[in-house]
Amino acid sequence: MASLLLLGAGGHARVVAETALSTGRFSSIAFLDDRCSGPAQLPDQLGWPVIGPFSAAHDRQICQQFQAALVAIGNATVRLQWLPRLAAAGYELPVVIHPTAWLSPSAQLGAGSVVFAQAAIQAQAMIGSGAILNTGCSVDHDAQLGDGVHICPGARLAGEVQVGDRSWIGIGASMIQQICIGADVTVGAGASVVRDLPDGVTAVGVPARVLPTA
Ligand SMILES: CC(C)(COP(=O)(O)OP(=O)(O)OC[C@H]1O[C@@H](n2cnc3c(N)ncnc32)[C@H](O)[C@@H]1OP(=O)(O)O)[C@@H](O)C(=O)NCCC(=O)NCCS
Repeated sequence: MASLLLLGAGGHARVVAETALSTGRFSSIAFLDDRCSGPAQLPDQLGWPVIGPFSAAHDRQICQQFQAALVAIGNATVRLQWLPRLAAAGYELPVVIHPTAWLSPSAQLGAGSVVFAQAAIQAQAMIGSGAILNTGCSVDHDAQLGDGVHICPGARLAGEVQVGDRSWIGIGASMIQQICIGADVTVGAGASVVRDLPDGVTAVGVPARVLPTA
């Protein structure tokens, strides 16, 4: 069994840690967090230590101790910046899938993505790297999700939906079939998206409307 290093030590990271342990693939976990400038400055998380800031991922001793690493933070841009750095440092970037989630055998998930409890990913869905498929979300057949996408708990994506890189689909939102969402989009909690959304917008409500920029 491998040891897993998690970048981030917040609430999301703790869900990633417990999901990783539930797969039976990992024997031990440690966290890095930029609030920690050295060992033992942040309390243990779930009984596992916080051993340094993100930069400690490059330390030779830590590289030797941990075979796999994941970025367990909500900020998609930072998540995607760190994934190639971790790969270059020699870590495996696992895909972590909770045993109660359904991943179609014909679906594909990129490196460093996580799928939490009771999520369902259906036939031929294609999902990029560093994605978060959160608790109980569903991504239906032929969906195409870019790198760093976060589908929040309970959100529902119908068949053939496309979501651009780093977009964030809020808790309980839904999207009808064949909708195309751009990159860096935020869809609000509970929104119902029935029209395509361009890059960079925030959309809320039923049906979803783009919020004016400040
Ligand atoms: C969409 C969202 C990001 C907007 O946040 P914001 O930019 O701070 O926007 P504000 O709170 O200033 O709201 C702007 C307007 O949109 C409305 N609004 C915000 N979120 C809304 C939502 N989810 N549904 C409907 N209307 C919403 C507000 O009522 C406000 O309307 P008003 O101008 O008429 O008063 C946020 O409200 C949201 O829904 N986040 C999702 C949270 C989530 O899913 N968390 C799960 C984490 S795993």
